[in-house]
Amino acid sequence: MGLLPPGAVGRRGLDMTARVGALELPNPVMTASGTAGHGAELGAYFDLSGLGAVVVKSLSAEPWEGNPPPRLVPAAAGMLNSVGLHNPGIDAWAREHLPALAKAGARVVVSVWARSPAGYEEVGRRVVAVASDRRAGTVVAVEANISCPNLEDRGRMFAHSPDAAATAIGALARGLQGSDLPLWAKLSPNVADLVEVAGAVLGAGAEGLTLVNTLMGMSVDPLTGTPTLGAGGGGLSGPALHPVAVRAVYECRQAFPSAAIVGVGGVMTGYDAAEFLAAGADAVQVGTATFAEPRAPRRVLDELERWCTGQGLASVRELGKRGPGL
Ligand SMILES: Cc1cc2nc3c(=O)[nH]c(=O)nc-3n(C[C@H](O)[C@H](O)[C@H](O)COP(=O)(O)O)c2cc1C
Repeated sequence: MGLLPPGAVGRRGLDMTARVGALELPNPVMTASGTAGHGAELGAYFDLSGLGAVVVKSLSAEPWEGNPPPRLVPAAAGMLNSVGLHNPGIDAWAREHLPALAKAGARVVVSVWARSPAGYEEVGRRVVAVASDRRAGTVVAVEANISCPNLEDRGRMFAHSPDAAATAIGALARGLQGSDLPLWAKLSPNVADLVEVAGAVLGAGAEGLTLVNTLMGMSVDPLTGTPTLGAGGGGLSGPALHPVAVRAVYECRQAFPSAAIVGVGGVMTGYDAAEFLAAGADAVQVGTATFAEPRAPRRVLDELERWCTGQGLASVRELGKRGPGL
């Protein structure tokens, strides 16, 4: 198998390598944006170089405060959050957090967001500058979080309209020109026709789809009648989201057999990850599970490997041959 990075050959000799479009990863398990800190925080619990990739919290061109507390509340089978895209801005992040990720040997997927098409182009240019400096090689892909308000469209989320989603992705693709970083568009499940939005972003320059972001939700204190989250509404994640995300992956794989697809939503076990891969995902991300158990992404990877071995597979990619991609 040649010189493969840590994590590429499972302890049981199984080939764990994953291909997400043009990108080859040692295995198909990543962290999910916003659930693993800005940098190498999870490195205190396991070796980050052993994961397929680390997806960092979404970054904007300028620092952003985010929403008032409380930002997280429990929900049945998951949780609600309204963090509000709090981040230090991409330049400060590159100075303060990227070096620790590079030192840990992590492959980094940079998640970005903006509040206008011009903002996506600008943050794209800054990603290129960051990725091409002395730490080149650490940044392996860009994930576009388009579940954010478009100031040029009365604050409606880019991801909720095929045209706005395509405009954001087109602008980001322009900003990324001159780099060969793959671009994945992370879509929202809060739409009537997800496949239509997926087609629009793939047509606008995205190589891949990350499916899905959180479902819009809210909880209210019955004693006061007020929402429990500081911002009012929030996003539902965790096991409750999993079947929604599996359906998104399955339908997009049927519609776009050659697109890169990353499944995210309620992966708590290796079995959940195997389900995503068999539904058509090339890789998976682990988010909410990490809050109760920081080692969850590593455990999911170990369980996935054990499950595949139990199935008699020689490669984890064989799971994809079971699903709708064929
Ligand atoms: C506290 C929290 C913060 C999040 N922040 C981001 C973010 O900054 N960017 C993003 O694209 N998704 C963000 N997400 C969404 C997750 O990346 C993921 O799509 C979603 O939670 C579903 O996966 P899970 O059920 O495994 O958590 C966040 C989720 C949570 C729970």
